[in-house]
Amino acid sequence: MKRKLYIKTYGCQMNVYDTERMAELMAPDGFVVTEEPSDADLVVLNTCHIREKAAEKVYSDIGRMRALKDRRARAGKDMMIAVAGCVAQAEGEEIIRRAPVVDMVVGPQTYHRLPVMVRETTRRRAAGERVRLVETEFTIEEKFARLQRPSDKKGPAAFVTVQEGCDKFCTFCVVPYTRGAEFSRPVAQVVAETERLVRQGVVEITLLGQNVNAFHGEGPDGKVWSLARLIRRLAEIDGLARIRYTTSHPRDMDDDLIAVHAEVETCMPYLHLPIQSGSDRVLAAMNRRHKVDDYRRIIDRLREKRPDLALSGDFIVGFPGETDADFQATMDLVRAVGYAQAYSFKYSARPGTPAAEEADQVGDEVKAERLAALQALLAEQQLAFNRATVGRRLPVLLEKPGRRAGQLVGRSPYMQAVHVMVGNEADAAIGAIVEVAITAAGPHSLEGDIVRASDRPAA
Ligand code: 5AD
Ligand code: SF4
Repeated sequence: MKRKLYIKTYGCQMNVYDTERMAELMAPDGFVVTEEPSDADLVVLNTCHIREKAAEKVYSDIGRMRALKDRRARAGKDMMIAVAGCVAQAEGEEIIRRAPVVDMVVGPQTYHRLPVMVRETTRRRAAGERVRLVETEFTIEEKFARLQRPSDKKGPAAFVTVQEGCDKFCTFCVVPYTRGAEFSRPVAQVVAETERLVRQGVVEITLLGQNVNAFHGEGPDGKVWSLARLIRRLAEIDGLARIRYTTSHPRDMDDDLIAVHAEVETCMPYLHLPIQSGSDRVLAAMNRRHKVDDYRRIIDRLREKRPDLALSGDFIVGFPGETDADFQATMDLVRAVGYAQAYSFKYSARPGTPAAEEADQVGDEVKAERLAALQALLAEQQLAFNRATVGRRLPVLLEKPGRRAGQLVGRSPYMQAVHVMVGNEADAAIGAIVEVAITAAGPHSLEGDIVRASDRPAA
């Protein structure tokens, strides 16, 4: 019997990857994905714990699901509710105490057990028993060994998780607690997954990891491979046209990886390299274990090798003890580096992290003011970066239909969204890389005309 599965994804790209894997894991048990929670026999909330707002949203969504569940119950239908992801890991049984309607809590390193948990819950409920299951151990190796392989990948760009967890312990961050210690998948597993995706028509992969450039997976030769070596190996796969990776830590940006940006043609000229703050004092308090100057030198070396590299980053404003001068140092750094795109956040105190215990927390008004100033500067830089591509010809991977009839949306090598109108170019279809003359730029996207269709057949 077919049953319906609704998964809501919060937070980062690793959760997007996990959501796809959970859907694949449930498919053999007859679950088909629905976009409509009121239809669902099973609802999974794949949650994020990184900032308070994201974590609190989960509880209001559980409330909404409870209303849908009640409505279904009146029609004689059941609904199971599972909380997955990093809130599940951080709060465990507490979720069930706070929201007794939840049936299952499953952490990011245990979700391969979801089918078994759902089967057990279904069976015991049919026998009239009220059960609640909580699984939050760190069984990451087992998880990757058990994941189903992508069977019907839609679209030409895909994520491949290669590394998870973090040993850095920045004092503001929950990741080392929710995702656990650093773990790298074996090279052979990553290569096999990528080859399978390419056979299904994928032409671009993004290697994912909380600390992706700390990758140290076991190679087929029994030796430890770095991310640079992994990228060089993946670049040999025929048909794989673009490789990206995210998120990187400045301390793990080694010379070989910098060289990859110059030497590996399919490694895209875009790098997300968060620094968080432009003040050495704040960086030390954050336990980042690098200085502003170290970061600047890395950027210089990268730009020497790859002058057109587009840079992205993350910034936190209002970290405990951050003064106006510290904040101005962040603004100065942003001005000096020049970002193509970046994310910025107000510091959010997370339970169990050292910075949350600091006495000198910054008030919300100050945080809001600083965030507005930083975001205005970053928006200006993003627009300037986009405008500088007007008049250039860029290869664009066409990814999906646009809003208007006949329009397709793709990505430039620099991660910019590019809108094009498709006429009668035979090869200008989703999955093709076409050459586009950029004619206009806005804050979030570009427009252009296809000047040459693909030499690579569409998927
Ligand atoms: N408060 C605000 N931002 C945070 N980040 C991580 N933890 C916090 C926090 N407690 C941001 C960092 C990180 C990104 C993924 O989220 O900038 O790089
Ligand atoms: Fe969190 Fe720092 Fe690890 Fe990034 S490097 S996941 S910010 S602890």
